Amino acid sequence: MANLVVIGAQWGDEGKGKFVDLLSEEADVVVRFGGGNNAGHTLVVQGNRLVLHLIPSGVLQPRTQVVLGDGMVVDPACLLEEMDHLQQAGIDLGPRDLLLGSKAHLILPHHRQLDALREGGPGALGTTRRGVGPAYEDKAARRGIRALDLLRPERLERLVVASVAQASKRIELLGGTPVDGGALMEQLRQQATRLGPHIVDVSLLLHEAASSGRRILFEGAQGVLLDLDHGTYPFVTSSTTLAGGACAGAGFAPHLIDGVVGVAKAYVTRVGDGPFPSELTGVVGEDLRRKGGEFGSTTGRPRRCGWLDLVALRYAVRVGGIRRLAMTKLDVLGDLGALQVCVAYDVGGRRVEHFPCDPDDLARAQPVLEPVEGFIGDISRATAFGELPRAAREYVERVERECGLPVEWVSVGPGREQTLIRRAQSL
Ligand code: IMP
Repeated sequence: MANLVVIGAQWGDEGKGKFVDLLSEEADVVVRFGGGNNAGHTLVVQGNRLVLHLIPSGVLQPRTQVVLGDGMVVDPACLLEEMDHLQQAGIDLGPRDLLLGSKAHLILPHHRQLDALREGGPGALGTTRRGVGPAYEDKAARRGIRALDLLRPERLERLVVASVAQASKRIELLGGTPVDGGALMEQLRQQATRLGPHIVDVSLLLHEAASSGRRILFEGAQGVLLDLDHGTYPFVTSSTTLAGGACAGAGFAPHLIDGVVGVAKAYVTRVGDGPFPSELTGVVGEDLRRKGGEFGSTTGRPRRCGWLDLVALRYAVRVGGIRRLAMTKLDVLGDLGALQVCVAYDVGGRRVEHFPCDPDDLARAQPVLEPVEGFIGDISRATAFGELPRAAREYVERVERECGLPVEWVSVGPGREQTLIRRAQSL
């Protein structure tokens, strides 16, 4: 095996970072291929907690190169801040350690401002307000500014003037104060000096890496149900979160991808607005939030919690291209009493077993829940799958049957050692 993609199989926050961190031990290159600093994962470096939003989880592996792919939208200020924080923690990322895709689009202050202004008004989607949507809008409208433009001061200035003028009209309409283009240009010049040496042709880099037998791990952001095309539109992010996104976003050939791991929590969470058929709004939902520490690592928002939704998970396996599953936070379900899983939806009196495409159907979908035996006790110290209580093992096996895929890893806590590996597998 060489090249692996890891994606989220729900609405994000499934714990992908832990698996990328684990699998990156065997990887030579770790690549993010979509999204921006709307994502977030926590690292512990020498006892210090560090939240990264852009730089891939593999950054702690000494010999691993980390890459921000062309499909991403990158806020240069955020990237430099993360590099500084890592440097303070003793991790110095030189131009060979951290690479930025030359074709990645930039998130600039006016994108953040537009995102926040829109979220303050009617039609808010519950975004992370990091400017991700507006930056992708500019990309699709073919007026975006890319990392490679940082290397061409004259072109950069022309593009910045046009971009600021365009955004200013929209900002004023929403009651905001337009950004100062001159100050932005000055900021970008300084950022370009630092980021310039990191900017590369990622597709070429990955092609050469793969040709010389180096192993590449693609780190997805968000989850399948937030995918721009196949998620719960319009309550989605603005990028591709599916395994196929790794090819498009990194300029990498599909035939060179050897495996796709989907990471799913043992229950479901969602931040932001939008349909969530198996959501629990009562005491059990609160228990899950408290026990699972379900607060967003990017925005700190409490996450909505619900029972494991097998309809949505089967859909994520299908459209996401998932071939192997990792289940996280099984320990959180311990001592919760009787459990339930969502096996179908009731849409206007009709039993539906496939995830509906129509937003109205999805909005009125009621979960068809099946009771599942709960398990008692703290399983977070288990060191092998066989040590888990029978009911916990059966819960995992039920998911395997429903999805027709092996659950190869079961996570029972945040630590690396709290990962139960079920089958002999290698990267
Ligand atoms: P945006 O990506 O900031 O535009 O937000 C769009 C939707 O995606 C909102 O519902 C966000 O809460 C959600 N979202 C974006 N990134 C993440 C993530 O990393 N985890 C979970 N939800 C996310």
